[in-house]
Amino acid sequence: MNFVKNAWYVAGWTSEFDHCLKALTILDKNIVMYRSHLGEVVALDDCCPHKLLPLSKGKLTEDQIVCGYHGMTFGKNGQCTRIPGQKNIPPNAKVHAYPTYERHNIVWIWMGNSEQANSTKIFDLPQFTDPNWASHHGDALHLKCNYLSVAENLVDPAHVSWVHPTTLGSAASEDIPVDFDITGDNIIAWRWIRDAPPVGFFQQYGNFNGNVDRWHYYYLHLPCIAVIDFGSVDTALALPADRRHEGCQIYALHFMTPVSKDYTIDRWMHIRNTAINDEAVSLKMDEMFKVAFDEDKAILEEIQIQEQKEESRPTLRLAIDKGSHIYRKRINRLIESEAHNASK
Ligand code: FES
Ligand SMILES: [Fe+2]
Repeated sequence: MNFVKNAWYVAGWTSEFDHCLKALTILDKNIVMYRSHLGEVVALDDCCPHKLLPLSKGKLTEDQIVCGYHGMTFGKNGQCTRIPGQKNIPPNAKVHAYPTYERHNIVWIWMGNSEQANSTKIFDLPQFTDPNWASHHGDALHLKCNYLSVAENLVDPAHVSWVHPTTLGSAASEDIPVDFDITGDNIIAWRWIRDAPPVGFFQQYGNFNGNVDRWHYYYLHLPCIAVIDFGSVDTALALPADRRHEGCQIYALHFMTPVSKDYTIDRWMHIRNTAINDEAVSLKMDEMFKVAFDEDKAILEEIQIQEQKEESRPTLRLAIDKGSHIYRKRINRLIESEAHNASK
């Protein structure tokens, strides 16, 4: 399986990294990570260049990893600093150090060519730091399926009527067509469901008495970040789309980390403009999202089993599939261009 390597991926929430060795796999690469005493998050290839023992099986001593087999020691930059029993340190006694960056309590890792790592390109939203919005980390959904299927699901507003009938969707949206757009590295799919009773999620939040206009804007940032802007507003207010923040608006953020070709971690969080100082609401929303995301997981893992049997992609394309079609094409193009540049 090929992945897009020149991209920032989420390695975990800030709370997941401490002054101890943590082994994880991203894009099929085994990585060992830890937080140094200065607070930096260090990420190294989890493989000793001597006999290939994972460095995560060793010890962290004064911000350096001491291999558990013969004691070779590696600093934060992956360079070997000690080989017990000899003075000479050969130039290839080192492991790759991955660039990392931490912001908004999220730890990012650059999986490609280190020279191209640019932290100003890391995904951000102004609402992360806006006092009128509440930002809350949810959980990590582990899916036994390929990241492309997860991403497709996150540029697909049509499935909510069928997969999430008690939380995010309802029969009112079944026949409403989906609109699409592309801007830069963003694929956008959206639709409005007007003048319908609020769905389960907005029966809980919004204090609506009558029908609402409900929106779903799905932004898929290549390669692996999805932002779903959804919400509801009283139909009687007849608010235009660009004033939807005056309604009850929620951003559900999904950071997909491909572990291997058939395993993906989707770390999700939400940012909302309602009940912003109420932690109980954050936890209640978590519960509703967990119901919905488990419904997605069940569908996506079934599809994965089927795809592995058939060894082919489906050939039937519907109008609702435009976003996922463009996504797969763009991903293939990125992977091809990285392979082309690597062979130069
Ligand atoms: S395997 Fe690491 S020092 Fe020998
Ligand atoms: Fe879903």
